[in-house]
Amino acid sequence: MTSESLLVFVKFGSAFLALLFVMIIANSLAGGADQAAETPWKKFNPTAADIHDGRQIMERNGCFSCHSIDGFGGQIGPRLDGAARRKSTEDLFLWIKSPGDVKPGTRMPQYNLPDASMIKIISYLETKDTVEVKP
Ligand code: HEC
Repeated sequence: MTSESLLVFVKFGSAFLALLFVMIIANSLAGGADQAAETPWKKFNPTAADIHDGRQIMERNGCFSCHSIDGFGGQIGPRLDGAARRKSTEDLFLWIKSPGDVKPGTRMPQYNLPDASMIKIISYLETKDTVEVKP
């Protein structure tokens, strides 16, 4: 190898390495962004048991003292059949997680439920996304 071709090799070699380095960094940044966008409800694929649990978690936490579904429950909050049509999954999640942050002064209490429980509740609410109007 002549010293000139060695020089060319070194130049292109380092350019190649720099490019590789940039690609790796860009890739890891993109991966990081993906992770941030990976919200708990997006990878959730509810089973019938999850939906059933969602209903039970609502019963245990007294949601029905203020909300009704299928004509059963309280009147303080809006009826929740149709809630999944009015609000996106993400908005339902944020709302149930921290109602006071979404709407300061709201009467709905903050429950601090684990994410998994909220996702089950939302899965249940999503099966009740239509309101049946009785004649
Ligand atoms: C003390 C009464 C009360 C309890 C208990 C309560 N909520 Fe609420 N909730 C409200 C009120 C009032 C609103 C309407 C908030 C507003 O617009 O100010 C609301 C709104 C909502 C909404 C948004 C509905 C829509 O159509 O926009 C959802 C979803 C919801 N509640 C779910 C729940 C769940 C799930 C529970 C139980 C874990 C629960 N709530 C317990 C009072 C309550």
